[in-house]
Amino acid sequence: MAIQRQTRSSHPVQPGKTARNNDVFEQTLRPKSLSEYIGQSDIKGHLLVHLEAANKRNEPMGHALLHGPPGLGKTTLAHIIAREMGSQVRVTTGPAIEKPGDLASLLTNLESGDVLFIDEIHRLRPAIEEVLYSAMEDFVLDLVIGKGPTARSMRLELKPFTLVGATTKAGSISAPLRDRFVHNFKLQYYSEIEMEQIVERTAGILEVELEESVSNRIALSARATPRIANRLVRAVRDFAQVNDEPKISYDRVIETLESLGVDDRGLDKTDREILKAIIEKFAGGPVGLSTLAAATSEEEQTLEDMYEPYLLQQGYLQRTPKGRTVTQLAYELLGLPIPTDVQRGLF
Ligand code: ADE
Repeated sequence: MAIQRQTRSSHPVQPGKTARNNDVFEQTLRPKSLSEYIGQSDIKGHLLVHLEAANKRNEPMGHALLHGPPGLGKTTLAHIIAREMGSQVRVTTGPAIEKPGDLASLLTNLESGDVLFIDEIHRLRPAIEEVLYSAMEDFVLDLVIGKGPTARSMRLELKPFTLVGATTKAGSISAPLRDRFVHNFKLQYYSEIEMEQIVERTAGILEVELEESVSNRIALSARATPRIANRLVRAVRDFAQVNDEPKISYDRVIETLESLGVDDRGLDKTDREILKAIIEKFAGGPVGLSTLAAATSEEEQTLEDMYEPYLLQQGYLQRTPKGRTVTQLAYELLGLPIPTDVQRGLF
């Protein structure tokens, strides 16, 4: 089946019981409109203009590609785009669309103005991408029915729609597909103040009271990522509840974060293990992704999608043509002696 609600990618800070459980939780907290959405002000500014223009013309907004690390709000934005156009969103993922027929069934079931959200769009098969091009450009589907000498082509008219594609790997999207998106939005990590606002909003929705400084402490540990902030608020709420604490204290937050192994820079046990492995097993690098994955018992994809973006952004890690290397900051974080070549900034 091509339409599905994607199981969200996992991260160790995942206090919910199951992926499904987390999904429902995330949906409850999701902002429903651009005015409720905190941060990503450039993207919001663009969307306000283009959504209003599209609504005035009574047309769907142009196709939009959203890229950036997991948990920053790509799915949320897709839902907001649909809502701001007064339409429905259909959710699927690149790998879930196996045959051109799956895509045809998705597209022919769209109502005028609907949003089709394809998560992990970089994982679409080339044969599916081919079919998508004419659908995106001209709202028609060119399908080949049957095989061999009796094969015939068929053209189906589609209702105008907006494709919203999301990816953590903008570089893996083929040029012809990328060129067919009218809007290309890169989601950024959130600032400390934005994260604090998100924590306070979430606490408000969950009806939990926070003592002073608590929202800031959770914000600092949330990896600049709203999804993680929401999970931390949920975990802290559980700890407070077990201790019959009506208002969440600073000490309870510290206890929760310590139990999860998350520090005030948003780094967890696995982040530190990755940096430690590069330093201790590979003399600080460079080390290739597959070797690092084997050394840390993590999957390459998990390292690349979940861990590296934040370590790179925070300046603990660097990507060089020969592989990953750690920076002086990583030695300082782990309290390890800094080699002289690293001190001199050679790596
Ligand atoms: N919850 C998750 N992401 C959010 C955002 N960007 N703004 C408000 N609430 C959020």
